[in-house]
Amino acid sequence: MRRIALTLLLILSFESVAAGTASLSISCGALGVELSLCQQGVDAWSSKTGIDVNIVATPNSATERFALYQQILASRSADIDIFQIDVVWPGTLAPHLVDLSQYIPEDITAQHFSTLITNNTVDGALVAMPWFTVAGVLYYRKDLLHKYGESPPQTWQQLTDTAARIQEAERLAGNLRMYGFVFQAKGYEGLTCDALEWVDSFGGGTLVSSDGEVTINNPKAVQALEMASRWIGNIAPQGVLNYDEEQSRGVFQSGNAVFMRNWPYAWALGNAEDSPVRGKIGVIALPRGGEHGHHSGVLGGWQLAVSKYSKHPRQAADLVRYLTSYPEQKRRALIGSYNPTISVLYQDAEVLAAAPFFGTLYASFQNAVARPSRITGDKYARVSAEFYYAVHGVLGGKTTAAKALAQLQRKLERLSRGGQW
Ligand code: GLC
Repeated sequence: MRRIALTLLLILSFESVAAGTASLSISCGALGVELSLCQQGVDAWSSKTGIDVNIVATPNSATERFALYQQILASRSADIDIFQIDVVWPGTLAPHLVDLSQYIPEDITAQHFSTLITNNTVDGALVAMPWFTVAGVLYYRKDLLHKYGESPPQTWQQLTDTAARIQEAERLAGNLRMYGFVFQAKGYEGLTCDALEWVDSFGGGTLVSSDGEVTINNPKAVQALEMASRWIGNIAPQGVLNYDEEQSRGVFQSGNAVFMRNWPYAWALGNAEDSPVRGKIGVIALPRGGEHGHHSGVLGGWQLAVSKYSKHPRQAADLVRYLTSYPEQKRRALIGSYNPTISVLYQDAEVLAAAPFFGTLYASFQNAVARPSRITGDKYARVSAEFYYAVHGVLGGKTTAAKALAQLQRKLERLSRGGQW
């Protein structure tokens, strides 16, 4: 049903392009204020250049968006000129994307985090420009922690204990809908991010090592998933198994959760004028796993790429250059707490005042853990899907962590052909 609706949406957008009401078309995400920020940026460029731009909204789920892009690009359609692509997609989508280095000078690309430029460079071609970068963070209710004399948790065990205690006390006080912790546990790319953070924070690796070895079947990863499975139906609602970013934010922002794992965009929305939790939120690094674990946070974020099938690559690249520029990234950081990819913006006083954790968590953003997309190349989507299916089964109580990870290890090894990918 959803797929049909999306197809219809695209057909409608395509028609307006075909009818000549737009000469460029860009796909933008629509999470929170994303779409309106995109629209404003595009409008500013259009009024400068006189070129009309059509915006195509895409599904919130990264997994669904990827499937849609693959369909469009496989058909070599010229209908979308610019694609907003996830940090884990350049390897797979590269054959369909223009080398932007022919349009965007090196002194501009050099302003961006070099790790992202490296990530977006495939076989020597710069296939996308970084737009915003993120890492998973922990949101907490400052007022509730204060009320119960608790401190922000440093380990998952502390988070579990604090969440349970406050959840119970708040329910006794009459808020029956209060939960301790919400996150993303629906079967999709978001769960891959959350689960990789749990596993990595226990020292259980990143699923596939940087040299291609499948590493997921290890005792620390088992321990991490066992911990998470105990949350379901206890400190986390059973329904979390169907939550994506926006559903977790809905619960937290309406005041019904003590803790939330999410991306930085939830900060600006949680502090918006109409937000019930405005001014009551703190943001810290995600907890460490066990005594020997460390703080983790998966690297996320989005890039802008120009399709090889675009009829106007030069103009499209110019729009990409504008949208990823310093003033645009600053505007998006101030209004939407979208982390810039231009390093000097992290020294900008206005940016730091709008989202103070950009400064306090700078190291977490710098050291964010990459999903194994570079090493697994165009098999990444499959690897990620196998991982989130396995984790979802464990969280839903259908299987044990030990069994699921042993099976996942075998599946991924078959897929990797002895680490060659
Ligand atoms: C966010 C991240 C993206 C990730 C997705 C998963 O949009 O920026 O990298 O794949 O969440 O849901």
